[in-house]
Amino acid sequence: MSIADCKLIDLPKITDHRGNLTFVEGGNHIPFSIERVYYLYDVPGGAERGGHAHRQLSQLIIAMSGSFDIVLDDGRDKKRIHLNRSYNGLYVCPMIWREMDNFSSGSVCMVLASNRYDESDYYRDYQDYLKALKA
Ligand code: TYD
Repeated sequence: MSIADCKLIDLPKITDHRGNLTFVEGGNHIPFSIERVYYLYDVPGGAERGGHAHRQLSQLIIAMSGSFDIVLDDGRDKKRIHLNRSYNGLYVCPMIWREMDNFSSGSVCMVLASNRYDESDYYRDYQDYLKALKA
């Protein structure tokens, strides 16, 4: 798995005079079934989130409101991605270290996840993560 496997996905956008509607179908627009949804909000200015990788979990990260940055890192390369559209989702495959920062005031980050919360799925130590990549 590398950051080249993480893609910005253009989600469907239905526009009419009443506004926009976007939808996500597990297994169609994203390559996994959705088992969990969580969201980050009321993030204080200057705060950083993430700082971990997942063994098995796949995720789609969407800026529902406002904007923030995600730095993807596969142990070789790093890429900073700015999310600011609610019809774009960043697909993050397993075994990618991610950090999130630059949250705008009032921003909301929604994450669609392939599995329920499981702390044993996390690498929270960067050195442990690098060791696991080499193993
Ligand atoms: P964490 O994944 O570290 O948040 P972030 O990646 O946004 O910085 O989770 C923060 C805390 O919330 C941690 O104690 C685990 C808990 N948590 C749950 O209980 N369920 C969940 O679905 C998530 C994502 C986190």
